[in-house]
Amino acid sequence: MDKKEENREEEEQVVNPWEVSSSAGKIDYDKLIDKFGCQRLDHSLVHRVQRLTGRPPHVFLRRGVFFAHRDFNEILDAYEGGDKFYLYTGRGPSSEALHLGHLIPFMFTKYLQDAFKVPLVIQLTDDEKCMWKNLSVEESQRLARENAKDIIACGFDITKTFIFSDFDYVGGAFYKNMVRVSKCVTYNKVVGIFGFTGEDHIGKVSFPPVQAVPSFPSSFPHLFKGEDNPRCLIPCAIDQDPYFRMTRDVAPRIGYHKPALIESLFFPALQGENGKMSASDPNSAIYVTDSGKVIKNKINKYAFSGGQESMELHRKLGANLEVDIPVKYLSFFLEDDAELEHIKKEYGAGHMLTGEVKQRLTKVLTELVERHQTARAAVTDEMVDAFMAVRPLPNMFN
Ligand code: TRP
Repeated sequence: MDKKEENREEEEQVVNPWEVSSSAGKIDYDKLIDKFGCQRLDHSLVHRVQRLTGRPPHVFLRRGVFFAHRDFNEILDAYEGGDKFYLYTGRGPSSEALHLGHLIPFMFTKYLQDAFKVPLVIQLTDDEKCMWKNLSVEESQRLARENAKDIIACGFDITKTFIFSDFDYVGGAFYKNMVRVSKCVTYNKVVGIFGFTGEDHIGKVSFPPVQAVPSFPSSFPHLFKGEDNPRCLIPCAIDQDPYFRMTRDVAPRIGYHKPALIESLFFPALQGENGKMSASDPNSAIYVTDSGKVIKNKINKYAFSGGQESMELHRKLGANLEVDIPVKYLSFFLEDDAELEHIKKEYGAGHMLTGEVKQRLTKVLTELVERHQTARAAVTDEMVDAFMAVRPLPNMFN
């Protein structure tokens, strides 16, 4: 039995950057917080964000989509005291089209950038996907550029945002930091964190420092030279935590701040809540390239319903909101708190039917996706080049 299988047997729940699964169906996030050793993001922190930024907290904060953190309070302390921080997030370009789950960290990062007025670096790990997904170097780089267009379409400020592909950017100061990190991590340590086995190729074993070092400002001399060692905040889905556990472990030993993290739940598949959506089943997710017709059809046909079998039973018992995917999706994307509460109440009491809730969701998601498609169509190759140019960012912190 290999190490991965062993973990599965013991814990029945596997969450790492490459696999999210749970034999119980649902991911137990409390258990995950305990196991990973991160902290729950409570209401007091949400209020603090509101107070410090003078804007209403993002839906994803209000509704607990970003539910866990590491040292986020320290970032807020620094910000309150007038110290600087920057944001770091990324994407592994493994597919042409993004689904809604992929957009979540970027939508949230865009809000953080606007609310705190801070610079942002976005890593496209084309090297990672080339090694894990058996894509060619050229294909991974092509996907990175395609994905960059979707990321730019989320509305990032070009005067505050640097997007880079590992294949293009790794070298120089960035590579020096990778070597500093690599020297501090034993083989046993990566095996413990990531579960690599003797059969995995050495590219995998050597990759984690690549994802680690954007956490250190000195990896970007064109941005942060002369800046007084700003802190780093990483918004990500919680499956990326292992990379940053390693990073935080190493950081003080090489004289750097530990990066702080703000971590999200997984966006559930249409068929129900058991982990991440599957790239191999196009009907498990809504893609940003889907047409209104496709969205409507997917929701009506595949979205798991907590409604009852018959109309009489539904009127009598009401919907089971715990398992209902349309309500789950609305809680991510319907911004109006009062309307969401109304739907939950009426649907839960059996006054509202699944069909009506699905119809509302179809409208919300169609609008979101159409807005995204319009924005993406406006992103030119020149804009991609401009976001990816190695350049200073004027007025990064204004
Ligand atoms: N490994 C991530 C993925 O496969 C990509 C990534 C790189 C990332 N750096 C990151 C994600 C920082 C979140 C934060 O998608």
